[in-house]
Amino acid sequence: MTADPTTLRRLYGRRQGHKLRSGQADLVETLLPQVAVPAGGSLDAATLFGDSRPLWLEIGFGSGEHLAAQAAANPDVGLIGAEPFLNGVVGALGHAREQGLTNVRLHMGDALDVLDRLPDASLSRAFLLHPDPWPKARHAKRRFVNPGPLDLLAAKLAPDAELRIATDHAVYCRWTLLQMAARRDFVWQAASRADWEQRPADWPPTRYEAKARRQGHEVWYLRYRRAD
Ligand SMILES: C[S@@+](CC[C@H](N)C(=O)[O-])C[C@H]1O[C@@H](n2cnc3c(N)ncnc32)[C@H](O)[C@@H]1O
Repeated sequence: MTADPTTLRRLYGRRQGHKLRSGQADLVETLLPQVAVPAGGSLDAATLFGDSRPLWLEIGFGSGEHLAAQAAANPDVGLIGAEPFLNGVVGALGHAREQGLTNVRLHMGDALDVLDRLPDASLSRAFLLHPDPWPKARHAKRRFVNPGPLDLLAAKLAPDAELRIATDHAVYCRWTLLQMAARRDFVWQAASRADWEQRPADWPPTRYEAKARRQGHEVWYLRYRRAD
């Protein structure tokens, strides 16, 4: 499925923060071209990794600590990360170099553009961790959890694939639960309170999660199965 080209696509949020130090600029010049998602054309495991490995996508990976931890723990999986924030991409490149990761591909830009190019039912897992909450009601359309992006994600996830969403924002959590409950193609996997209140062992913390915890916020971990 390809997203409706008439849909307004606009990325909100920062593209760059502090100026890059020379080591960071070097990562962008030398490592990014090696691990960047190729420009244009369809994306599948063969194009990205040269084989037929399972593909996982992280939407808005921030500084890439979760992406790198998942890649290190799952060397047979291909991790695709999308993040428009240059300093975040540099963070992910640093993790990839330090940990010698070969199973990571990065797109510096909108995750929707990557989703558009993936074949239907090609992802076995997707992560949306601490998405920008856009707490004001008039900005609700900017939230990633909205029918348009969710339709696209649903098309690209294989049957029984998992979608993981984390947030420490009560408005976003409630919004997500309502949006997802209105859909037949995602089934919430929680059986007990602990399932959404406690971070599963195979769910490494992100920078935003750590910040939320330091501030004394609760964090919610939502897991959905892609249903037919
Ligand atoms: C609140 S931060 C969370 C970062 C990271 N996931 C974490 O938990 O530490 C949200 C991130 O999503 C990114 N983002 C926003 N819209 C995006 C989009 N359409 N595609 C990819 N990334 C996006 C932002 O640049 C930002 O880095």
